[in-house]
Formats: sequence, C-alpha cells, structure tokens
Amino acid sequence: MSDLCAPVFAANWKMCHGPAETGAFMERFVARYPPCDDATVVVFPPAISLPAFAVAAADRPDLQFGVQDVHTEVAGAHTGAISAAMVPATGATWGLAGHSERRREFGDKDADVALKLRRLLEAGLRPVLCVGETIEEREAGQLATVIERQIHGALSSIGAAGRTRLVYAYEPVWAIGTGRTASPEDAAEGHAIVREQLAAAGAGDSARAVILYGGSVKPANIGQLLAAPGVDGVLVGGASLDPDSWAAICAAGR
Ligand code: 13P
Repeated sequence: MSDLCAPVFAANWKMCHGPAETGAFMERFVARYPPCDDATVVVFPPAISLPAFAVAAADRPDLQFGVQDVHTEVAGAHTGAISAAMVPATGATWGLAGHSERRREFGDKDADVALKLRRLLEAGLRPVLCVGETIEEREAGQLATVIERQIHGALSSIGAAGRTRLVYAYEPVWAIGTGRTASPEDAAEGHAIVREQLAAAGAGDSARAVILYGGSVKPANIGQLLAAPGVDGVLVGGASLDPDSWAAICAAGR
C-alpha cells in the first residue's frame, strides 16, 4: 500500500452529521488540524453529507472522504440505495464494506461484501474491508476462523490488482460503541491474524497491507493503540463526531 501515508486516521460518522452539521464540524476541525504530510485523514460521512463535506474541504485536499456503504448493483430499482458508480462525482475517493453494523442490521453476508468491494474498485474508489468477531465468537475461541471466513469470503471475487488497493479494518464487535477498547495486545493479535489470512488468501504483500483498528478509540487511548505491533491506523466512530476530539486523535500522527 505504498501510495498511502500511514498512520491512517479514518472517521466513520455512521448515521450522524447531516449536511449542516458537516459544515459546522469542518469549520472547527480545519482550524484545529493544519495540513500534515505524515498521515492520512479520511472521513466517512453519511452519503447525504458527501457534497457538504466536499465543499467544506475544498481548500484542504489533504482531507479525504468516502462513502459508508454502496449497493451490490450498479443501478436499478433499489429504493433508497446508492451505487458506487455515483460516488466519484461527489469527490469522495474511499468506501467502506463489511462494517459489522451493515452485517448485523442489514444482513450483509460475505458474498455481498465481496460484490460491494468489486463495485467500489470498479468505480475507482479505495475500499476498506471491515472484519471482526462478536463476543460470543471470541469466547468460543473462533477469532481466527471468523476472520479467515470474512477475509476469504470478501476477497473471493477480487483480482490481484484490486487486492493491492484494499485497506483493512479489524473491528472487534464487542469493542464498538461499548467503551470497551481492545487492549494493545488484543489489537496486535487481531491484526496479526488479519495479516496471516491476507497472506493465505494471496492478497499481495501482506506485510505491507494497511490495517486499521476500530472499537472505542479515543484521544486517551490513541497513543497506545497506534504503538501496538501491526496497527497502521484507526477507524473511529463516536470519538470522531466532535471536531476537537477528532483533531486530538489525528494529532497522534504528528
Ligand atoms: P466506536 O469508535 O464508536 O466504537 O465505533 C467504531 C466503529 O464502528 C468504526 O467503524
């Protein structure tokens, strides 16, 4: 992933911050986070806020942005859905796939995630494949098998060139929105398993893959998480919604 500058700080706003709040957030954030050559900052606003983000970041090409989800089809009768092909016109260059909330609330299966990755790549976007185990799976000793299934399932229809463009996020479901952050050791273990499975799946040079940690990241724990072996950045939900908190997290890359 040589064209990406790590660490990568990614903000997943989920269903928060409409267009007006996006503008207000950015006004404050850009004042607190000057351009930086030593890190990548990318925000995933709700799709309806992508144009507002583009306007607010017009003078800050260092701030990248992306879409949280796309449909498995390119176009058609799918009320309420968004196609990857529509996204580049907003200026967005990234896309999430496989987030645990999409899997749980919307029933996305590994085969859907595979197709979404393909659509994102076809549209020229950089996908972030999210994987991670539930607490039940962890306690049943299934951490490695869950990650293996998610990675192999998602990469099944992606060719070698596409695989080199992917970024990965290890997000243990039990750490998302719970305040229960994975320890640096837990994060390092999860990242090592992701890397092993990427190697097993033939996903390019797994040692160079960019793998983000996600789950209750905040200014107070960003330093120790980024220092954990194999952690190349973070994917942040709740603590990315406040511009001061997000700027404090991104400042860990300076
Ligand atoms: P929280 O940071 O709120 O735990 O969310 C993490 C996440 O799901 C990012 O995609």
